[in-house]
Amino acid sequence: MKNLLTMTDLSKEEILKIIHEALDMKENGVQPLNKKLTVANLFYENSTRTKCSFEMAERKLGMDIIPFEISTSSVQKGETLYDTCKTLESIGVDALVIRHSENEYYESLEDLNIPILNGGDGSGQHPTQSLLDIMTIYEEYGYFKGLKILISGDIKNSRVARSNAEALTKLGAEVLFSAPDQWKCDITNTQYVDIDDVIEEVDVCMLLRVQSERHVSGKSFSKDDYHKNFGLTLDRYEKLKDRAIVMHPAPINRGVEIDTTLVESSKSRIFKQMENGVFVRMACLNNVLNFKEEKVKCHL
Ligand code: CP
Repeated sequence: MKNLLTMTDLSKEEILKIIHEALDMKENGVQPLNKKLTVANLFYENSTRTKCSFEMAERKLGMDIIPFEISTSSVQKGETLYDTCKTLESIGVDALVIRHSENEYYESLEDLNIPILNGGDGSGQHPTQSLLDIMTIYEEYGYFKGLKILISGDIKNSRVARSNAEALTKLGAEVLFSAPDQWKCDITNTQYVDIDDVIEEVDVCMLLRVQSERHVSGKSFSKDDYHKNFGLTLDRYEKLKDRAIVMHPAPINRGVEIDTTLVESSKSRIFKQMENGVFVRMACLNNVLNFKEEKVKCHL
C-alpha cells in the first residue's frame, strides 16, 4: 500500500489485513519499526482524536515526529500544500499525515515520493476512522456479512458516512441511512429509512456529528427536534437488540446526536473506537512504510 487515501482504494482483503494487524498489536503488543523514520502531521482542519491518535501510534512505533502547526508555518504566507509537503520531503520526512478541508486535496500531491495518510479530506473520505470503526465492529461480531448497520445524521457533509458505507458494503454488511432531507445525499445506492422503523433490527447504530461548521449560516436548526427525530434517545436505546452496539466518531454534541447518559452506556463503543484508533493507525503506518522499504529493496 503506497498511500492511504480512500476506502475506495482498499480491497476487502487489504481492509481485513489492516484490521488483523491492528488486532494482533492490541493482543500481543507493538513491535517498534526496525529503522528510525520521521513523520509530520499536517492538520489544516482541527482535530483531537485523529491527530493525537496518530501521534500516539507514531510514538509507539518509535518514529520521530516533526512538530508542524499550520498557524505558525509558512502556510500563513501563502505557501501551497504541494510546496509545504515537498519541503518536508526534502528535509527528510518519511511520511505525511494530512487533514485538509478540500475534498481530494491529495490529487495535487501525486508527484511526492513519500507516503500520505489521509486524516480526512473535506466531506470526502476518512479512511483511518472507517478502519477503526470496522475493527470495533469486527471485535464485537467477528464477521460483517448480513450485519444491519444504521448510520444516522448529517450524511451529506460526512466523510465518515461516505467511507463507512463504501467499506462496510464491500465487506457484506447492509448499510442504512437516516437523515433530515437537507442532509441527504446519494452514496453507493444506500437506502434512507426512518430510524424508528429499523431501530429494533439493527446490529450497529452509528450516529454522526452535526457538522455546524459546514452548514450554510442563517438556516434554522433545532437541536431538540433533531434529537427527537434522528438522535439516539433513551426510548430508542431501550428498543435496541440485546447485542446491538452504539457508535459515534466524535466529537459528540451531547443531547443532540445522543442522549448524554448514553455516551458511556453498556452498548456504547464510542471510547473503544478511540482506543482502537491507535492500533489501526499503527497498522496503517506499518503498511505504507513497509511498502516504501520493499520498493527500495527491489531497486538495490
Ligand atoms: N473522529 C474524528 O475524526 O475526530 P477528530 O476530528 O477530533 O480528529
